[in-house]
Amino acid sequence: METVLLCIDDLDNSKKDLDKLQQASSIIKRGGLVACPTETVYGLCANALDPNAVANTFVAKGRPNDNPLIVHISDLAMLETLVSCIPETAQRLINKFWGGPLTIIFNKSEIVPYSVTAGLETVAVRMPSNKIMQKLIELSGTPISAPSANLSGSPSPTSAKYVQKDLDGKIECIIDGGVCEFGVESTIVDCTTEKVMLLRPGNITVEMLEEVVGDVVLDSGVALKPKSNIVAKAPGMKYKHYSPKANVVLFNDYKNLYKEIESNNKNDFGLLYTYENTQLAEPFDNKLCLGERSELTTVTKNLFEMLREMDEKGVSTIYCEMFSLENEGLAIMNRLNKASDYTYLD
Ligand code: TXA
Ligand code: MG
Repeated sequence: METVLLCIDDLDNSKKDLDKLQQASSIIKRGGLVACPTETVYGLCANALDPNAVANTFVAKGRPNDNPLIVHISDLAMLETLVSCIPETAQRLINKFWGGPLTIIFNKSEIVPYSVTAGLETVAVRMPSNKIMQKLIELSGTPISAPSANLSGSPSPTSAKYVQKDLDGKIECIIDGGVCEFGVESTIVDCTTEKVMLLRPGNITVEMLEEVVGDVVLDSGVALKPKSNIVAKAPGMKYKHYSPKANVVLFNDYKNLYKEIESNNKNDFGLLYTYENTQLAEPFDNKLCLGERSELTTVTKNLFEMLREMDEKGVSTIYCEMFSLENEGLAIMNRLNKASDYTYLD
């Protein structure tokens, strides 16, 4: 299959850009697959109410069938068709954080196919803030299911280039709308439980959620290595995920990194460091700066992009600084723990 690339530069002012999105929406309407940017990562879009289109999403990604998809909406009228009720906690979170990088789990209505929810009675819904994605949903006139637009298991793509790398030839169209604003996937909360439960951390942090709904319970495995007998509530969180081809090793203390490099005589490795540690990282040639610890959104934005960049350099090991679990640090460590399979130097 030939994959068409559509570049969107200025949706607000360009009639040509609008025409391109019309073209993409006609693909969605007839059951095809389109990759589209969101504010978090690129998504692989299909008509969420078309079981065939949804099934093709799993095939294109090589995704296990027991891992449900998030349904994306452009207005609250769409939400009402998808869910059996809107709990009060969910309503408060919607008022504060939609459109934006927050996914909420609801009890599903009858129109949501089980192929989307992987057989569950609940459905994950989010309203993106990205204007291109919003417009695509609106023009398609249907809720859109969209997992991250990567091959299952590799880091989520934050630019069209990496979508092409994974899915070129497997889907009908890729919309290039530039680099994603946040860079890691949306926060997921379950609002069907008595207390709001965090299933996947993201840029809407626990601290931000708690300001709106009080205590939030962390699902097992969000911060720590899950015990093998515990089932993660978001099925996707149980897979080794976000992994570049290289081994990822995490560390806190540069002394341990220096020792490791010396004792192993290693030379085909890369380092991901933060701006604050520029001097400590000075001796290494092959390194990328993730951003600033004092502004962790710069780190979330660069994280997956730089894991992929290191892979392109062909290194066998990527050493990466660790982060504390506060604010966006929880999301960063959650992704790094999975990428490294919980491998630490210290
Ligand atoms: O930022 C995002 O959320 C991106 C963009 C494209 O919107 N999408 C994304 O989708 O990250 P995906 O498929 O890569 O991750 C969806 C996660 C999986 O861990 C899945 O198990 C969980 O959401 N999930 C979906 N439906 C669920 C449900 N009903 N109950 C619990 N977890 C659910
Ligand atoms: Mg994904």
